[in-house]
Amino acid sequence: MIKKGIFGTIADKDVDFFILKNKSAIEAKVISYGAALVGLEVPDKNGSFADIILGYDDLNSYINDTCYHGSTVGRVANRIANAKFTLDGIEYKLAANNGPNHLHGGKTGFNKVIWNAQPFEEKECCGVVFKYRSPDGEQGYPGNLDVTVTYTLTDDNEIKIDYNAVTDKKTVVNLTNHSYFNLAGHNSGDIYSHKIQINSESITESDAFLIPTGKIIPVKDTPYDFTELKPMGRDIDKLDMGYDINYILNKALPMELSFAAKVYDPQSGRVMEILTSEPAIQFYTGNFLNGSTGKDDASYKKHNAFCLETQHYPDSPNHPEFPSVVLIPGEVYRHLTVHKFSVL
Ligand code: BGC
Repeated sequence: MIKKGIFGTIADKDVDFFILKNKSAIEAKVISYGAALVGLEVPDKNGSFADIILGYDDLNSYINDTCYHGSTVGRVANRIANAKFTLDGIEYKLAANNGPNHLHGGKTGFNKVIWNAQPFEEKECCGVVFKYRSPDGEQGYPGNLDVTVTYTLTDDNEIKIDYNAVTDKKTVVNLTNHSYFNLAGHNSGDIYSHKIQINSESITESDAFLIPTGKIIPVKDTPYDFTELKPMGRDIDKLDMGYDINYILNKALPMELSFAAKVYDPQSGRVMEILTSEPAIQFYTGNFLNGSTGKDDASYKKHNAFCLETQHYPDSPNHPEFPSVVLIPGEVYRHLTVHKFSVL
């Protein structure tokens, strides 16, 4: 079931919201600004519903947001060192919006534009197809890029995010979703008791600016080891700020949809499993949340949520040894991520 309405307007342009509801009464709310997931009501072990996605009540807050709440992130998610890369001998200079580096698509990334939205309803699912044409040269990237992001809520209690993109000029693409989760509810304080497992044995080492050094390091015997379910808070104090690191996922075949991570909140009993076709996942514990005001006047502080951003490795355009993010005309960029909800 889908309900549609107007979330707000920007320069006379309506930003729509869509509320998707499945047969278990799970509700997902998406908006056409940033093709963002702005709410997700799921039951706990006693059947009580809570909204487990951080975000805002109004459009203006999304326009001014600097945390990428719920947004689709692109053209290239994560960081690109010194905001530049070279393709076929041509150097492309990108918008620098994170010190000297490029972060999450630049100053006006895919999170800051209005997408065309088309809802659909089928027998066991419903969703919204978002489309956006990123023009040649936008934020410095070459080629017109036609991007489609489809959110589907299924009767199996899954949210599927399906991305594809085509270009008319060789370019780079790495899309993700930047939802902040707190399985106890968006306004429930820290996530230290949430347990997480990540299907990964190694991370890309990064420097002080969170740019990969190129070295791949095993997680064994480090605070980064989540090969078995472990509370997010157990080793977090051993790190400067918290977790903000790219995990390389175990895959039998590249691009196969396979298990990436599982999070369990013992208090509410809520479980979220993530499957993805992507080779990596950024685990981020909201280290830069600074008390800003969110939905229902919530105050979102450091470590009040976590993100699990399925993607290619950070700074891939400058690391030929990493899985490639290059897209050429005639090929289709594809990425599927599934979030599955249950209780224990
Ligand atoms: C990055 C963080 C960054 C945050 C911005 C995350 O994906 O890993 O370093 O600060 O996005 O909200």
